[in-house]
Amino acid sequence: MKHIRIAIDGPSGAGKSTLARSIAAKLGYVYVDTGAIYRTISCYMLEQGIDPTDEKAVVAALPQAKVEIRYGADGLQHMLLNGADVTERIRRPEVSGCASVVSAYPDVRAHLLEMQRQMASADNVVMDGRDIGTVVLPDAEIKVFLTASAQERARRRTLELEQRGTPQSYETTLREIEERDWNDTHRATAPLRQAADAVMLDTTQLDFQASEEALLRIIQERSGT
Ligand code: DC
Repeated sequence: MKHIRIAIDGPSGAGKSTLARSIAAKLGYVYVDTGAIYRTISCYMLEQGIDPTDEKAVVAALPQAKVEIRYGADGLQHMLLNGADVTERIRRPEVSGCASVVSAYPDVRAHLLEMQRQMASADNVVMDGRDIGTVVLPDAEIKVFLTASAQERARRRTLELEQRGTPQSYETTLREIEERDWNDTHRATAPLRQAADAVMLDTTQLDFQASEEALLRIIQERSGT
């Protein structure tokens, strides 16, 4: 039977992970958060004291960073770095900054490409990232480009960081989001952009439930179910 692959791309803080995880659970699909893979690689670089801006050093260190994805009894995606569970650690702000830098390197992207394709080959998946509809799964059955204004994304992220116990001011968060947007859309390899055949969903004015309903409607329309 043919698998259904739902690709969800968009800028950071647009609500991709929360929405993708939730609809995957509703549809009975496997959820793959590809940002977590870049974050795990970044965790390794930071742990080893490797300067993220030193492309050669980052690329040379890639073979030593064994990245694995495990689905826990809780159904959540856990990230393992050389056998250690780094699921919590990869959410720290310094890891976000590092991931934005190292994900621009073509060799880093090439290194992680096959792993992502394999994850989508065995099951029905909802995969979120920046280049899923354009590069990783260009023939995905359903593609959605999920976005929201930078201000709204910064507001949501500030709230999330506070809830995680790592608060940060709205201004700093907005600056970081704008920086990451710039990095993600301006890199030469696989920049963040909407695939020609993706449906755009802007959640600036939508709360979680309304966003989820809109997303499920798009999936229904596209899959003809
Ligand atoms: O979605 P996220 O914030 O967890 O992603 C972390 C970083 O990884 C972000 O700067 C963009 C990058 N990324 C990417 O380049 N390609 C992907 N498919 C997913 C994430």
